[in-house]
Amino acid sequence: MTASRTFLITGASSGIGAEFARQYATMGHDLVLVARRLDRLEALAAELGDKHGVTARCLAADLSKRDDVQNLLDRLEGQAVDGLINNAGYSLAHTFSHTSTQQQVDFLEVCVTAPTILAHELLSGMLTRGFGRIINVSSMVAFSPGAAGHTLYPAAKAYMLKFSRSLAAEVAAKGVHVTALCPGTTESEFQQANGMTKVLDQKPKRLSQSTDSVVAAAIRANEAGREVIVTGLVNTIAVAAMTLLPDGLITPLIRWGASKYQIPE
Ligand SMILES: NC(=O)c1ccc[n+]([C@@H]2O[C@H](COP(=O)([O-])OP(=O)(O)OC[C@H]3O[C@@H](n4cnc5c(N)ncnc54)[C@H](OP(=O)(O)O)[C@@H]3O)[C@@H](O)[C@H]2O)c1
Repeated sequence: MTASRTFLITGASSGIGAEFARQYATMGHDLVLVARRLDRLEALAAELGDKHGVTARCLAADLSKRDDVQNLLDRLEGQAVDGLINNAGYSLAHTFSHTSTQQQVDFLEVCVTAPTILAHELLSGMLTRGFGRIINVSSMVAFSPGAAGHTLYPAAKAYMLKFSRSLAAEVAAKGVHVTALCPGTTESEFQQANGMTKVLDQKPKRLSQSTDSVVAAAIRANEAGREVIVTGLVNTIAVAAMTLLPDGLITPLIRWGASKYQIPE
């Protein structure tokens, strides 16, 4: 990919999304940055404009709100978007019964519905131009049997994985690369956002990857036309275990591991 393109990145105000913005800007691509915290997006856009001479447009949107998603699409009218990074996301760390229905619905809007709408709306332009790049940020938990807490998170991430694979099967031959990014624990604001910092501070440090290695692996995989990328050797081994070991062995193991990281209720 040599020509300058435009990449839209959701959740670009921190963590993995901000790193996608940095790496695409380093490659000379223009950006559309989306999140709720506009001040953060504007600071990042200024930094990347100064450093790399790229244009970064900042659009504030709360992706749990359908009106905001539609408004975002309206503001994109007439702008060619060549790449979509469906990255915005979080988890609800509590058990299902300790959250409200609205919290769970908002979660699904951000992590499942908004990425689906954005992919659907932006895909037609990519197909017309015969070029497109879509990265859906899933997680290695897409392969897990699920544990108490973060109830819908594995389901939402499994959706992103399966959605990516089906879409890739439909559009790979038409110049559009679709990849599900499946990282494990990654240094970002994820744990602050879901209220897990206190629990994790009391536990031995878990292996975590840097955002730059995760994002570099994702962009490489997407450029190469790979449908799924699990980042890091340890995570790759863990995913192989979750996929290959019998359910009767892996499920108790995962649930025992996860029980040490639960928020007390
Ligand atoms: N960190 C990990 O260990 C890890 C592992 C596997 C997968 N992931 C996935 O990686 C993705 C990025 O997370 P991260 O680790 O970079 O966490 P993060 O630093 O907390 O970033 C999350 C991003 O999502 C945005 N966001 C959250 N709710 C939103 C909403 N309602 N509307 C619009 N934007 C919203 C946030 O922006 P605003 O708050 O400004 O709106 C922020 O930019 C997520 O999909 C997450 O599930 C993370």
